[in-house]
Amino acid sequence: MNILAISGSPRPARNTASLMKLVIECAKTYASEVNTMWCNLNDMTYSGCQSCLACKDPAAKSCVRKDSLAFVLDVMLASQAWVIGTPVYMGHVSGQLKLLLDRMYGFTGPNGEKRLPAGKKVVVAITQEADEECHTDLGEQIASWLSRWGLETRIIRACSMPVAAPAPEFSQAVKEQADVLGKWLVTP
Ligand SMILES: Cc1cc2nc3c(=O)[nH]c(=O)nc-3n(C[C@H](O)[C@H](O)[C@H](O)COP(=O)(O)O)c2cc1C
Repeated sequence: MNILAISGSPRPARNTASLMKLVIECAKTYASEVNTMWCNLNDMTYSGCQSCLACKDPAAKSCVRKDSLAFVLDVMLASQAWVIGTPVYMGHVSGQLKLLLDRMYGFTGPNGEKRLPAGKKVVVAITQEADEECHTDLGEQIASWLSRWGLETRIIRACSMPVAAPAPEFSQAVKEQADVLGKWLVTP
């Protein structure tokens, strides 16, 4: 199966990317053929939604803007599972990820019809410096938006992850949850 990993963190090997990799490594232990395409949004040049509404043309299949996000949106349409990662920035997803979420507007057609094929699964991996009592509703908020496109979404959150720590260390509870979600991601 094909997993698309989309990281909204500017740091390719720190907390968020490590959490995403943990989930994907766990997924690989439950399925023999897992192909991962990794995408660091921070390395790409793209804009946010321009509200041009060209995506609402019945002939469009998604956002029509031809910058480097166009390829990512195409792969989102084609892959069976996504792992989306973000650090919490000022209480929300990173700006890099927010622009992508806005561009997903084109995954809905002119009459509200869903253009994403049904059955896709998504794990959203969130890391934050604050403890688990903070930002409790962020994951639910993202999952609720993704459900509008018919996406089945699960959240994994690693809290108390300082931005200045030399290397990420995950709690046993996070490791166990990564295992559960990795299995869920690749189980039909
Ligand atoms: C610009 C900026 C804003 C941040 N805002 C928050 C925040 O609102 N709440 C929080 O708990 N952590 C916040 N953090 C900390 C990061 O979310 C956290 O350390 C995260 O794990 C870093 O992920 P990374 O290693 O992938 O960059 C912020 C960090 C930065 C750089």
